[in-house]
Amino acid sequence: MKTVYLDNAATTQVDPQVLEAMLPFLGNVFGNPSSSHSYGRKAKSAIETSRRSIARLLHCAPAEICFTSGGTEADNLAIKASVFDLGCDHIITSEIEHSAVIKTAQRLEEEGNVRVSLVRLTGNGHVDLLHLQELLNQEGKAMVSLMHANNEIANVLPLRKVGEMCKEAGAIFHSDTVQTMGHFPHDLANLNIDFITCAAHKLHGPKGSGFLFVNKKLKINSMIVGGGQERALRGGTENISGIVGLAKALELAYEDMDAHKAHVLEVKMYMKEQLENRIEGVKFNGDSANPESLYTVLNVMFPPNKNAGMFTFLLDIEGVACSGGSACSSGASKGSHVLNGINAIEPNRTSIRFSFSKNTTKAHIDFAMEKVEKLCAVNVNA
Ligand SMILES: Cc1ncc(COP(=O)(O)O)c(C=O)c1O
Repeated sequence: MKTVYLDNAATTQVDPQVLEAMLPFLGNVFGNPSSSHSYGRKAKSAIETSRRSIARLLHCAPAEICFTSGGTEADNLAIKASVFDLGCDHIITSEIEHSAVIKTAQRLEEEGNVRVSLVRLTGNGHVDLLHLQELLNQEGKAMVSLMHANNEIANVLPLRKVGEMCKEAGAIFHSDTVQTMGHFPHDLANLNIDFITCAAHKLHGPKGSGFLFVNKKLKINSMIVGGGQERALRGGTENISGIVGLAKALELAYEDMDAHKAHVLEVKMYMKEQLENRIEGVKFNGDSANPESLYTVLNVMFPPNKNAGMFTFLLDIEGVACSGGSACSSGASKGSHVLNGINAIEPNRTSIRFSFSKNTTKAHIDFAMEKVEKLCAVNVNA
């Protein structure tokens, strides 16, 4: 073993069965789905079959699935539509949302379209529901955007409870479910929710493909204007192989969800135990060490170390691919806005996100632990 991949919250490897399902649409089946001839109809039929398959798994109507280029676009569409089409003038979100949410909200506020309130977080990064209620009680029409599971610290939001609070307050509720789609079952028929998002590449599907669930009671307009694709919600010729790959990835995820969860959780708890036994003074950020948190993510704060600033880089040289935060912020000198948001930054200590998938084994963890132990041997007093 020369390298191990422990960065599955950034992206996952495409499942061979997903690739196989996609290949015809990069080969012989190349029609434009908007064309009325047989080539076009074949492509269109693949899109609609994919849409039906996803809707069946999530317990929603096919018309409620709008295919996008992934999580970022889906988050943007949900938030902008809430403001421009649904009359929301108050966005309630949190400091530790993905940048696709937080930066979109900030931009809308800068442009004078809305005011943004950040809900208070508890010490380890959970949403303070009492404060959320206070914000919901304020004047104006609110939209709440809170992620289901945090991509860095693994905290899980009580989606049902927040959905009920939003319904009661007449607020629009969007949840970025990018990290839980295909990892937790979503029963949209029994959830008060307006928008949820998906990125195929987080569940062994292709990059550049995802969707936004838009509750059928809402009437929103497209953000990308052009042709009338996606029931006029998103102009542009569809990414057919990406859509087919997304549907296949979700189908596979649902087939074996319980077994995958048990396996991944076991791997994560094994790594946690190894770290506790072998690295003195190690801590875990947010809720990530809790077995009830997002089981794919473990966020580790290492003891003071001379190499603190270079830890991810040095681990990479040793063959361990992991991340200092979300993929977009890893390598950036500013550090993680999520760890900053929960005050989990300490001098000379570095935090690393290790994230796992169905392909991760205990042997991968043993390999990584050997390298981690070697780097940790250099402490600040050395
Ligand atoms: C929670 C969350 N939301 C949104 C995104 C963005 O998704 P995409 O890469 O498909 O644009 C990511 C990916 O890092 C994510 O982890």
